[in-house]
Amino acid sequence: MPYVNTKDILEKANKEFYAVPALNINNLEFLHAIVDAGVEEHSPVIIETSEGAIKYAGNGDAKLGARLFVSMVKGYADTVEIPISLHVDHGKNFDILMAAIQSGYSSVMIDASEYPFEKNVNETKKIVEIAHSLGVSVEAELGRLVGIEDNVVVESHEAALVDPYEAKRFVEETGIDFLAPAIGTSHGAFKFKGEARLDFERLKKVKELTGLPLVLHGASSVPEEVKNLAEKYGADFKGAKGVPGEILAESVRYGINKVNTDTDLRMAFIASLREFLAKNPGEFDPRKYFKTPKELVKNVIKARMRLLGCSNKA
Ligand code: G3H
Ligand code: 13P
Ligand code: ZN
Repeated sequence: MPYVNTKDILEKANKEFYAVPALNINNLEFLHAIVDAGVEEHSPVIIETSEGAIKYAGNGDAKLGARLFVSMVKGYADTVEIPISLHVDHGKNFDILMAAIQSGYSSVMIDASEYPFEKNVNETKKIVEIAHSLGVSVEAELGRLVGIEDNVVVESHEAALVDPYEAKRFVEETGIDFLAPAIGTSHGAFKFKGEARLDFERLKKVKELTGLPLVLHGASSVPEEVKNLAEKYGADFKGAKGVPGEILAESVRYGINKVNTDTDLRMAFIASLREFLAKNPGEFDPRKYFKTPKELVKNVIKARMRLLGCSNKA
């Protein structure tokens, strides 16, 4: 199965009531783990790269990074039987978004969520027009993630969350293909001080009023066994807490179709790498010390695919 449009993956998920994890990468090793997980679970796969990842891959040159990611993912997709797409995560810079669209990304997120509603609409519309003319689908965000977004502390109050009636207007005015409504998650490993809780009433209303595939950002779970393994080998992840699996499964029942996951992959990789290096102090071949980290990242993704219902949906 070839490289596909993210919209195709998500419209099927929306119709059949499941979600697909969207998995962030910065390098080749995470791509191996993700594709292996998709193949073993027979699941569709959405790969995503932040602007930082695109610059990193191009060694500081975003245009080069975008081209390299597209050729890596397209080349890989040609060799497997599952649908694979490539998406820009939290695109804010016009030039990087253009570089990605022109290089052949399957979809982009335009994140103008920090601006007032009208400016968010205008910025989003501009990208939708260009992207759609080239067959690239578009995600946008409404509301702010509660917690830390781009190093800005977002206050934990109602005003930060999505307004479902604004969401309906936003979708109608912009023509986006999928929407990320803020319902109480945040990025990173420290999501909740107290009990984990998301605003499902808001989510249900957004789904009812828009009908679009919906995206949950900041959806990592910080699995206990991964956290414990990392801490056993010297990491300090005190207070780390993610979105529990049962809350993720519930969010899928209320209309989430794309579940953005970066932190869990990063933590799994580092936990296993720490263990390997502690047990093999003489090893310096990256092909050897990246082997168990890739395996653990793959297993974390497979568990997530089963939880979200996308296994055997390729
Ligand atoms: O939403 C943010 C993703 O986890 C990517 O983070 O900007 O550090 O690549 P990054
Ligand atoms: P996590 O930090 O919870 O993995 O969220 C990732 C994300 O939302 C990427 O857009
Ligand atoms: Zn995000």
